[in-house]
Amino acid sequence: MDIARTPATPDGNQHLADAAPEPHDPATIRREDYRPYPWLVPDVALDFDLGLEATRITARLTVARNAEADASDTIRLNGDDIEPLSIKVDGEVSNDWHMDGSDLILPLSGDAHEIEIATAIDPSANTKLMGLFASNGMLCTQCEAEGFRRITFFPDRPDVLSTYRVRMSGPKAQFPVLLSNGNLEAQGDGEEGTHWAQWHDPWPKPSYLFALVAGDLVANSDSFTTMSGREVALNIWVREGDENRTGHAMESLKRSMRWDEQTFGREYDLNLYNIVAVSDFNMGAMENKGLNVFNTKYVLADAETATDGDFDGVEGVIAHEYFHNWSGNRITCRDWFQLSLKEGFTVLRDQLFSQDMGSEPVKRIEDVRILRGAQFPEDSGPLAHPIRPDSYREISNFYTATVYNKGAEVIRMMRTMAGGDAFRKGTDLYFDRHDGEAATCEDFVTAMEDGAGLDLTQFRLWYSQAGTPKIGVRMEHRGDRAILHLKQDVPPTPGQPDKAPMPIPLRIALFDRESGQHDGEQLVTLTKAQESFSFDSISSLPVLSINRGFSAPVTIEREISQDDLVFLAAHDDDPFARYEALQDLVVSHLKAAVSGQLEEAAKRDGEEAITSAFASVLADDSLDELMRGELLVLPSETYLAETMLVADPAAIHSERQALRGAIARALESEFLNLHERAGAVPFGMDAAAKGARKVKTQALIYLAAGNPDVARRRAWSQYEQADNMTDRQGALMVLCGLSGIERTNALIDFYNRFQGNPLVIDKWFALQASSMHPAALEHVKALADHQDFTLKNPNRVRSLYMAMAYSPHAFHAADGEGYRMIADLILALDPINPQTASRFVPPLGRWRRIEPKRSALMKEQLERLAAAPGLSSDTHEQVSRSLG
Ligand code: ARG
Ligand code: ZN
Repeated sequence: MDIARTPATPDGNQHLADAAPEPHDPATIRREDYRPYPWLVPDVALDFDLGLEATRITARLTVARNAEADASDTIRLNGDDIEPLSIKVDGEVSNDWHMDGSDLILPLSGDAHEIEIATAIDPSANTKLMGLFASNGMLCTQCEAEGFRRITFFPDRPDVLSTYRVRMSGPKAQFPVLLSNGNLEAQGDGEEGTHWAQWHDPWPKPSYLFALVAGDLVANSDSFTTMSGREVALNIWVREGDENRTGHAMESLKRSMRWDEQTFGREYDLNLYNIVAVSDFNMGAMENKGLNVFNTKYVLADAETATDGDFDGVEGVIAHEYFHNWSGNRITCRDWFQLSLKEGFTVLRDQLFSQDMGSEPVKRIEDVRILRGAQFPEDSGPLAHPIRPDSYREISNFYTATVYNKGAEVIRMMRTMAGGDAFRKGTDLYFDRHDGEAATCEDFVTAMEDGAGLDLTQFRLWYSQAGTPKIGVRMEHRGDRAILHLKQDVPPTPGQPDKAPMPIPLRIALFDRESGQHDGEQLVTLTKAQESFSFDSISSLPVLSINRGFSAPVTIEREISQDDLVFLAAHDDDPFARYEALQDLVVSHLKAAVSGQLEEAAKRDGEEAITSAFASVLADDSLDELMRGELLVLPSETYLAETMLVADPAAIHSERQALRGAIARALESEFLNLHERAGAVPFGMDAAAKGARKVKTQALIYLAAGNPDVARRRAWSQYEQADNMTDRQGALMVLCGLSGIERTNALIDFYNRFQGNPLVIDKWFALQASSMHPAALEHVKALADHQDFTLKNPNRVRSLYMAMAYSPHAFHAADGEGYRMIADLILALDPINPQTASRFVPPLGRWRRIEPKRSALMKEQLERLAAAPGLSSDTHEQVSRSLG
């Protein structure tokens, strides 16, 4: 699972022509160039002699000609930062090999051979955290997408499937636990305090799913009985002392296993499921067969140290990696262009699971918020790409919100069009037809057509066209008919100037103004550039509720009055549409306010309409608190900027804060009551108690904008009395944005209280970096020199700098200081960990959509990066695309 969830005036770039991707750049990999690998590699035997500073690997590959590929008299084995120490072919030492760049080329004359290669690596020097690396005294691997080639020479591509036997030995005291994929076959003691273990994975897999872990770990162990009655041993491995924070992960795992049986008919296929938590990790987690490796952030949780949001994150990522066992491992990807085949589908599966475990509408709103906050900006910027990209230079740059989250939306649309039962027939057919294969997105779509009975001919455009479609909506009433006029515009994106109309499935309802009712929801699918739909026996102009449940990942531009939005915000029976009406009300008001075209009187009118809508939300007894909490969230500054062609971040920030202040002053006693009422609910993990915690901090956020003195006192007492991290972090977040002694005291207390717990100290960094405090940038600079800050730990880097780069306030400081700091970070981090460094480029890549002064400052930093010598290909690709 990926980790970063949060996220101009056109002119030429002649002087940067050499930084732009060349049309025939040999480093560019193209989807159309796919060719099957000339060799099959049915079996792999790996022997590891483990050491933190020196690990020696002997790999034995059986290879045979692939009858379905063009014949070749050589074999190309990928390598990265490794050298062959010795090479044997069929037992004989071979000197007849050469290197082509970092790849090893061996001549092979027969139809089948055995190749043996020895390599040696230094895991402790592996700061890229790809391949085999050391973390906190343990050894661990990350091979997706191209990490295996940093361990041994291999056809490191997802369409080469092999069964693996892994033997490892090492000092027993240092590495008492030795794990790999599949089943433990044998183990024993060796000489001089060493021991060894031998693992075998019966399921053929590509190299990116290989994993090895060696370390001093303890397990929380449990078991699960599958639907056919097989018992599976479950272990969650952590460092000693952390085992009492693994309960939620274990429960989430068992619930995921049951849910996938019930919902998709998928049963687990080994007798053992291991999860290992590591603190140095580039991403969220990794689905290696039978041996998932997780960032500690998505395993460890208890009420004292993790927020409700953290608990949900653990549940979702545990589920995501588990679901990959079928959507990813049993059926993998033919090539990396098909990444969304496993990621989009698996994200949808984890979203549906979380919807079923908690509140369906709240989860839907959260997922749409992620899509709009992270994917929409990607889709409208220089890094836009289809969910199935056509080319890349560094595949790790394509683990994006587009591939993951938009990919999930695309499959969700198929589900909406087919209905749940037919969708299940489609997925059954897909799993059945392609089990054991390396498949393509096209295979998935075809299985959906055959199994679910859909015609997806035109729908395939969702795989090939980038850009978020804009849907224009107008409603008209004539005689006793209502006519809905729809049009679509798919904006141009890099390399795709012209787009064809796509099928847009829109769930709609027509509300009668008088009764506040509608005659049932309908699914309308727009397939042309423009199309009108007519509805009979409608006596007056209805109020249109459209894109209910966010049935299509599009933006809706509708002609609708403020009154109708207020109506929908109060009456819509689709919770998402109700939320949306409230958001639209706020967005259209803030857009007008930011443009400076709103007269005082109109501004007050708008504020009053919004305030009365919020007052209804606060007073509505039919809402549960979790939903109330969602409805109270104002659209983010990033999303607001996204709705404008060219954004002024400072104006957006101040207008949004001003609106929040106006709402808060008008409803101060309501917010105070809410804070009190919610504060009286005792701690629990049930929905009611979670909801209470959510609105409690929401109330503080509003109070802080309306009456900072009252908010400061309330926040301090919430902080002091907190018996859980949700309340404590919420209060500290509000205090961080205010000045005063309470802020200082709470920050000191928080640090001292949680010193030695890295995940909580990450929060301490992030809260300060993302705060709305006027001196936030100075705080970030000071924190970069803090004894606990290090560039070597990705979680810590993200906690300080991702928080800042996605906090519009600090990042967009008028003098460009925020941009310079992010560019400095990229330059410092790139030689250590290019994959994490390149993730900081996209915020700067927004320059074309920002007002001219800041735009120039952002571009200047990108140009500075482009000119820096020795940039990694990861960062270079993102920088040149951002400028191109
Ligand atoms: N497959 C993993 C997951 O989504 C993530 C791997 C991310 N790899 C990367 N190079 N960023 O569960
Ligand atoms: Zn995934």
